[in-house]
Amino acid sequence: MNSPIQCLIASSKGGVGKSTTALGLAAVYARSGRRVLLVDCDIASRSLEMFSGTADKALFNMGDLILERCSPDQVLLTPFPDLPSLQFCPAPARPEETQICERFPGGFPEAITCGCRSLLTLPFDVFIWDTGSGYEIPRALAPLSQTALVCAEQSPASIRAASYTSALLTGVKRVRLVICSFDIDAAKHGERAGMLEMIDRCSLKCAAVVPLDPKMMKAQENGRLPEAKYPAMQAYANLAKRMDGWDVPLFTGIRKMKRKHAL
Ligand SMILES: Nc1ncnc2c1ncn2[C@@H]1O[C@H](COP(=O)(O)OP(=O)(O)OP(=O)(O)O)[C@@H](O)[C@H]1O
Ligand SMILES: [Mg+2]
Repeated sequence: MNSPIQCLIASSKGGVGKSTTALGLAAVYARSGRRVLLVDCDIASRSLEMFSGTADKALFNMGDLILERCSPDQVLLTPFPDLPSLQFCPAPARPEETQICERFPGGFPEAITCGCRSLLTLPFDVFIWDTGSGYEIPRALAPLSQTALVCAEQSPASIRAASYTSALLTGVKRVRLVICSFDIDAAKHGERAGMLEMIDRCSLKCAAVVPLDPKMMKAQENGRLPEAKYPAMQAYANLAKRMDGWDVPLFTGIRKMKRKHAL
């Protein structure tokens, strides 16, 4: 049996596309028939609950798992009935914060790592850890990840955060940049950073360029599974292929997006 993929999604900066990338990649792998566990390690925003339409539907969450109120399999949700191979573990809810911090001297980073370790006992082919802004949880989860995808969009602050974040992920075999919400027109007109500039400033190999895609945003706002044909999802499909070792052009999704705009 192959060992599972364990992929960390990170950036110390908020709102750069981490959760979108986590869900997009999880959906691609699940559509290809793999058993995928998407884990929300972002206590503060827990946006994957919204994106997956599971807000207030969970009986248990990662906090219950950490505090041994449930077993790892009890914490799992199937957010999209059409895609049962994609399972989701919700982040701890805020009210549990005190109890968790009392039990774990290292606070949430240590607690979340403990929760993720117990989830790793479950029979999944892919584990995706979606983290929030900040360094501590990504750094704590680095030993549980062979791949880290560091997300950035075109703002200077986000590019700098990607560079800082990647420097902290020591021990992760592959640390790669994912350029999110890429606005090719703004880059062409010199209004926002271009891909090569971003890659250069982050000093990271780039694994995907995900176009700005209003349909993706809309699906997330409504807690719907993004369709495979969306330009952003095509970029995530290419990312999954690249992670599997296939030689896929980096800009395929972008070219399609451009053509569509030209019509
Ligand atoms: N390719 C894209 N096209 C259009 N909108 C996008 C794209 N990627 C992300 N977004 C939007 O950008 C916003 C931020 O994305 P997301 O929540 O994935 O970021 P994040 O880094 O996880 O944020 P946080 O740090 O708060 O967890 C969301 O409204 C999302 O819908
Ligand atoms: Mg997020």
